[in-house]
This record gives sequence, C-alpha cells and structure tokens, in this order.
Amino acid sequence: MDEEILNLLRTYPNTFLSGEEISRRLHVSRTAIWKKMKHLRELGYEIEASTRLGYRLIRAPDILSPTEIKPFLKTKRLGKIIHYFHTLDSTNTKAYELAVGGAEEGEVVIAESQTKGKGRLGRIWFSPPYVNLYLSIILRPNIPPHQASLITLLAAVATAKAIEVCSDLRPSIKWPNDILLDGRKVAGLLNEIQSETDRIHFVILGIGVNLNVDGESFPKEIRSLATSIKRERGRPISRKDFLSVLLHQLEDGYTLFLKEGGEPILKAWKERAQLEGKTVKVTSFGETLSGIAVGLDSDGALLLKMEDGRQKRILAGDVEYQQKSRIV
Ligand code: BTN
Repeated sequence: MDEEILNLLRTYPNTFLSGEEISRRLHVSRTAIWKKMKHLRELGYEIEASTRLGYRLIRAPDILSPTEIKPFLKTKRLGKIIHYFHTLDSTNTKAYELAVGGAEEGEVVIAESQTKGKGRLGRIWFSPPYVNLYLSIILRPNIPPHQASLITLLAAVATAKAIEVCSDLRPSIKWPNDILLDGRKVAGLLNEIQSETDRIHFVILGIGVNLNVDGESFPKEIRSLATSIKRERGRPISRKDFLSVLLHQLEDGYTLFLKEGGEPILKAWKERAQLEGKTVKVTSFGETLSGIAVGLDSDGALLLKMEDGRQKRILAGDVEYQQKSRIV
C-alpha cells in the first residue's frame, strides 16, 4: 500500500491528488489514506496536505527501501527482490540464511545499519545508520569453488567504477579488495561461499561503502585509515543513485564473467590496482613478508617475489605499500 500511494503521488509530481481520487483508485477508505500519509511522514516523506486540494509529494527521504530503489534500478538479474531492514547484525549473515532457505540468484539484502557488520579477517565493519551502504547479493554461478575469488575481483572493479561515475573521484584498488580514495579505505568487500568440492551452491557478495558518513564520526582507531565519498568531495551523494549505479556495474561485470571467464576481470582489476612491481609488506596469518608484487594468479592470489628470490602465493592478508618501487 505504501508503494501504491507513493507511485500514485509520483505519477503527478506537481499536482495535488484529492483524498477522494486516491481512495477511488486504491479502493480504500479516506481514513486509511490519512493513516498511511501519517506513516509515510514518519518514514521521512515530506507530503503537503491541503483540506481543499488533497495531497502532494514534496520530497522523498534518501532511504534504501524497495519502494525508493525500484524506480531507479536498471538491472535485469540483480535486485529484482530486495530484502530491506532498518537494522541487522550483518547483511551477509541474513543473505546466507536466505540462500540456505532457497533464495534465488540476484536477491539482495540491504540494511540501513549493522550491529555486527563483518569485515575481512574477523574484523568489525563500522556501520552507522542511514549514511552508508551495506549490501549483500546472493549469486549462484555455475563455477568451481576456486573461481569464487574472481567474483570478489569483479565486484571490486564494479564498486570502484560506481564511485567514479557518481562522484568524479578516481578510486584505486588495494589487494585483495580494498577500495581507496587518496590512500584511505572507502569501501570493502567480503564474500562468503557455500560449496562442495567441485561445485558452488552460492556466493554471498557483501559490499560496504562509506558514502555520507562524516570524517569525525569514524572511530578513532580507523579515522586516519578510512574515508567516505562525502569526506573526499565535500558534499553528500545520493545513496539511491549510488546503489542503482553499483548494481548496474555489478551486473555488467558478472555477465561478462559468466560469458568470457576470468581474463577480462583480471585485466580490469590489474589496471585499477597498479600492483605489479610495487614493493610491499604483507601480513598474512601472523607472518609478515616483504617483497615485490609480481602480479595476481588466475584465482586472485597475490604473487610475491621475496627478498631471497623465491616466489610465494598469498591467499589472504593485508598489504602495505613501501616507498621503494622497482620493475621486475
Ligand atoms: C573488509 O573488511 O574490507 C570487508 C568489509 C565488508 C563489509 C560489508 S557491509 C555489507 C556486508 N555485510 C557484512 O557484514 N559485511 C559486508
């Protein structure tokens, strides 16, 4: 019913619609409409009411509810079904449960805040309400488990592109999947999969993007390491526009991957990351290794040429760029 009333008001953006007209079109009483308008105002919709003329929608809030998002979506596969929550422990956890229960490819979970947002390597993802994006997408690609990390890579490229399209800022990617603006993290990705030895059941693609959170709101420990689009460009971004562009970019990347495999994905990722030849320090499972990044393996592992000349494959960890850089 929220959606029906809003659609009606949106169809006539500059005119008042009388209560009688709305009630006739939606087959509900005038009192029911009055109650609905009150509810919509509580959700942040600005609705002008005139006893003589009726109702007019002035402004919709920047919330990520299906009602607000659907009119903006240009995707075919992703986001046809949106599970929307004001708060969740973690959108990844919710999406995982839904996928176990049979949810289909492309279903999306969005929360306005998370109480236990999951970051990589067991960290917590800072998830304040109504300012950022916390999104998990259920995918069911017909690929072997070792290719799942390619989906994270394509999602990193899509997220970087979406930031660029919506803000004119130029993000870079740091291995494995941190999206940076001017050296500080603006977005992170966390994929979880359920699989058997040679077949994936589903992938949960979790994406967190710091959109409009103020610099001072970050916890002290991450204030110098993290940033948001608003902080970098000095003005807020429309969260619904961003979500719509991001889903579109993700769908394009995913379709390309299913059609052409990992090669174009690795190429796009490498162009953004500019990793090859950089002197790096990698912390992986408590061990710190220094060397030169030689590139990415076909499954997304980092190939590191160490000081003693040996080459090592690194599957997970944190990378720090060192000053010195030379070509290998
Ligand atoms: C990282 O540490 O870089 C990964 C952060 C991933 C955060 C997102 S927010 C939406 C989704 N739900 C979660 O609990 N985590 C991911």
